[in-house]
Amino acid sequence: MSPPSDPAPAGAGAPGSDQERLEAQLQVFAREIGAMYRSQKARAEQLEAALGALKTAYLETIRSFAFVVEAKDAYTGMHLERCRSYGVALMEELGVADDHPDAEYGFLLHDAGKIGVPERILSKPGPLTAAEWRVMRAHPVIGYQMLENIPFMTTAAEIVRCHHEMFDGSGYPEGLRGEQIPLPARAFSIVDAFDAMTTDRPYRAAMPTERAAAELSRMAGTQFDPDVVAVFLPLIERLPGVGARA
Ligand SMILES: [Fe+2]
Repeated sequence: MSPPSDPAPAGAGAPGSDQERLEAQLQVFAREIGAMYRSQKARAEQLEAALGALKTAYLETIRSFAFVVEAKDAYTGMHLERCRSYGVALMEELGVADDHPDAEYGFLLHDAGKIGVPERILSKPGPLTAAEWRVMRAHPVIGYQMLENIPFMTTAAEIVRCHHEMFDGSGYPEGLRGEQIPLPARAFSIVDAFDAMTTDRPYRAAMPTERAAAELSRMAGTQFDPDVVAVFLPLIERLPGVGARA
């Protein structure tokens, strides 16, 4: 810090009054505070940019991992990425996206637990035996255990654990019903089913969006939360990529 300067105006002769000295001192403080503010603002902007870059890198890492899991299932194509973008759009429409910033990670990773399911069961062409179903139905819990200890992945872990629960309690692994199922998981099951119905599979062609919407309505109250279906249906035409192909 520079030594205090004489606040009296140059050439003023006798020292200035107390009032003048105080005003000069205040100007010095104001300049110093201004400089500090600019420096802190620049630092905050640098931190924000670094945080943005970190978030992008984090999402890309999770996306890569999710695609590795998806690669075990040859039929799903870009299913994960569409589930993510539709899911985020639905969370925004529900007004809860900001409360669950990690939901998109859960949408991407919902089937991550399949990494613990043997390939012969995942790819079995015929129907699964009861024992094989028990193994297959463990994948939400395996995925949950992969994420549950990561503090900022709480919602993502809940989505993974509850993505096969059904609104009427007939799902798995716990048979949760209604609002016992976290809202992001209730939202996910709708976008997951919608995307499954509206894309080609080896055993059937894609369903038109209107028919898929009718199916969601039919299953509102049993498989799906009727309130969330009611928010999703008007959103369909605005989903990324859907309006163009409808
Ligand atoms: Fe699953």
